Formats: sequence, structure tokens, C-alpha cells
Amino acid sequence: MRTPVIAGNWKMNMTVDQAIELVKGIHYGYKNPGQVDVVVAPPSTSIHPVAQYLKDSHISVAAQNMHWEESGAFTGEISAPFIKDAGADYVIIGHSERRQYFKETDKTVNKKMHSAIKHDLIPIMCVGETLGEREDGRLQDVIQRQVMDGLDGIESFAATDIIIAYEPVWAIGTGKTATSEQAEEVHSFIRSLLHKIHDTKKANGIRILYGGSMNSKNAAELLALPNIDGGLIGGASLVASDFIDIIRS
Ligand code: 13P
Repeated sequence: MRTPVIAGNWKMNMTVDQAIELVKGIHYGYKNPGQVDVVVAPPSTSIHPVAQYLKDSHISVAAQNMHWEESGAFTGEISAPFIKDAGADYVIIGHSERRQYFKETDKTVNKKMHSAIKHDLIPIMCVGETLGEREDGRLQDVIQRQVMDGLDGIESFAATDIIIAYEPVWAIGTGKTATSEQAEEVHSFIRSLLHKIHDTKKANGIRILYGGSMNSKNAAELLALPNIDGGLIGGASLVASDFIDIIRS
């Protein structure tokens, strides 16, 4: 049985004060630990204050990105040890916005995955096709490449130590959600890829989240699907009551 994960990716939103306000709302509104792993990913300026606020709660904190090196001359970057030090336990890696606007590749995603695991952060590795790739019939090729290359050489971990998020690029911030059939098709394909590279127990234990215009109205249907183990939520995670509704779903 996989414990579902509901993670809010706040992207480049929320000042420190706004971040604390939002997390207060989520914390007060959701007090039922155990059934769901709840994660919030504030911008890096708010990781520490949010983590401090949530210290004794059942809500965890994620960074939205990281560098694969531990320290050094990489202006503007933060690394896994810094993220841990700031109080986060998760990190989003390879989000399509990073791939699209900051030229991240499967190779850099893979380096980040290795570093995250080495430093005890749970990576949420994002994969997903563009509309053009889907329409050209390249959906499976793209997903397979992103999953296999992203996970290359990653072996010694427990199933709960990594998370994959399927986020079709055409569904992000567009209000256009994948249908249940589309989402389940890709999630079960990802599961089949995991079976190729890991033993049954591990392949069955890794959580695969859906992301892309998930909201309080469509969450229950998506989350009921056999291979959808939670959600990575953008826009709807910025409103405490909406995020709580999704957690309850
Ligand atoms: P939206 O929920 O705003 O579509 O964003 C999804 C996403 O990119 C989460 O990482």
C-alpha cells in the first residue's frame, strides 16, 4: 500500500510573510496525519521560515530545485546540504519549467537525483511530454527517456525515498487536465519502466504523482486511479482551502 503524497509547488510566488500565512492556513485546516504525506515547496527564500514554523507538524517542506555540487562557485545556486540545513526534506527536480526556461537536461536531472539521495533528500523527479511530442506519437519515447536517464545508476534507496511526478507540459497552468485514461495510461507505463530496472517490491512501492491543473474539483477522480499516488499541485496549492480540499480527496 503506497501512502499518497500531496505536494504544493508554489513556484515563484509568496514572500516570507505570505508563505507563513499560507502554511498557517494549511496547518490549521488539516490535522489528520498518517494517511497522506503533505509537502509544500515554497521559493528558496522561505524554506527556512516555513520549515521552522512546521517543525513539529506532519507537513514537510521541499525545495523547488537544487544544484548537484555540494558547494562552490555556482552563483545563484543552492545545493542539497543547504536545503537540508534550511529544514527541507524533499526537493523537486527536473520540473518542466526548469527544463524549458533553464535548459535542464536528463543528464543534469540525473546528477541532481544522485546528490539529493546522497544527502537524504527525497527527490520528486518530474517528467512529462509537450503537446507537440504527444501529437507526434512520441509520448512513450519521451517519458521512457526522462525516467530511465533521470534514474540512471540510482540503486541503493528505499522505495519511499524517491517520487516521480508525471506532469504533461500541456496541462500545467492551462486549466486543461489529462483525462483519467490519459493519466493512468502514462502512470502505468512509468510503473512498467520501474519494473524493468528495479525489483518488484521497489517498483511497486515508488509513488507516482500527477501534476497539471489538478484542483479540488478534479482531484478525487484522478487520485482514485490505481497508479496515481498523489498530486503535485501548482496554482491550487496557493489557496489554503483549495489545497486542503485536495488533501482530503
Ligand atoms: P498547475 O497545478 O498550476 O497546473 O501546476 C502544476 C505544476 O507545475 C506543479 O509542479
